[in-house]
Amino acid sequence: MKLLITGGAGFIGSNFIRYWLEHYQDEIINFDALTYAGNLENLKEFETDLRYSFVKGDICDREAVFEAVKNIDVVVHFAAESHVDRSIMDPSAFIKTNVLGMQTVLDAVKEYKKRIHHISTDEVFGALKPDDAPFTEKTPYDPRSPYSASKAASDHLVRAYYHTYGIEMTISNCSNNYGPYMFPEKIIPLFISNLMEGKKVPVYGDGQQVRDWIHVLDHARGIDMILKHGRIGETYCLGGDAEMANLDLTKSLLKLMDKDESYIEYVTDRPGHDRRYAIDFSKAKNELGWEPQIKFEEGLKEMIEWYRENQEWVSRCKSGEYQEYYEKQYVSR
Ligand code: NAD
Ligand code: TYD
Repeated sequence: MKLLITGGAGFIGSNFIRYWLEHYQDEIINFDALTYAGNLENLKEFETDLRYSFVKGDICDREAVFEAVKNIDVVVHFAAESHVDRSIMDPSAFIKTNVLGMQTVLDAVKEYKKRIHHISTDEVFGALKPDDAPFTEKTPYDPRSPYSASKAASDHLVRAYYHTYGIEMTISNCSNNYGPYMFPEKIIPLFISNLMEGKKVPVYGDGQQVRDWIHVLDHARGIDMILKHGRIGETYCLGGDAEMANLDLTKSLLKLMDKDESYIEYVTDRPGHDRRYAIDFSKAKNELGWEPQIKFEEGLKEMIEWYRENQEWVSRCKSGEYQEYYEKQYVSR
């Protein structure tokens, strides 16, 4: 099988590629525009692996996308703008990539009759109250940030292409991922890297917003099982069974990193900050036999260890040096 992974240089995409190449012999083409979030250093060890190749391309570029989709079997679509705070500052890149780019990928999938698995988020369902039941595949969409609205649009487009043109598709809506190679702008890697540098950690508002955390490898395994056993046309919710308030998460991090609570800095809340996300993954469990295997406490400890052992990776992310890697390693070779 030949897989086209869009957005494979990002956090989840690169972990998925590593997972796949460690488990299977398939060929993988990583198609990525290398925005600020794309880091080819994440996949250094596969550069000489004959099963792996990289194409620098934008999913909004019709010609490049059609060329890439033509000769593969399955598209696993990760490419997106993914950070809520950036979407609040400037929604335009989110609409362009997550909506128009999605349309381009779907047009190519339709043209060449390929299968697509679309990676989405639980944020499309909106915000839960403390006692509400967790999201399921049947929860109505109610996105509240430019990021989640653009992802909701992409999910709707995938389903529309299935109903209208009969494309072979599946979707997963997953909760907040954590793990190695996570860009230090999102809460867990930002807080770990700040604490490693002896800096304070910025908790938004009262810190009582609740997120469900899933290890990125549990997510990768979920996608694998959907690709193998998922029913075409279906959506699967994937969650980590680890609901937690941001402040509790922050306190756990401080404890694991031997810091006291004076390192917490309460800062202005995010506008329109969703109060709670939670996922009921019974459908994936009952139909696919999938459930998360990595306990949050264990995964978090390992993640801190990984960031400690890969300080150069972190500092190259922060300085922007990682962005020169493609030029040095691929173009001028
Ligand atoms: P990321 O921001 O780390 O990576 C995104 C990747 O997409 C980058 O490599 C970037 O270069 C690439 N990209 C961006 N625009 C592109 C374009 N126009 N053309 C080609 N490539 C482009 O994101 P992530 O956290 O790895 O998330 C991957 C997917 O999973 C996204 O679709 C996101 O919405 C979804 N998701 C993320 C989470 C999470 O917690 N991070 C949770 C659920 C779902
Ligand atoms: P984030 O990692 O941006 O993911 P998302 O918004 O997609 O859930 O944020 C996770 C939670 O952490 C969210 O409730 C916002 C909060 N947060 C902070 O309190 N401080 C920070 O510096 C960041 C980046 C996030």
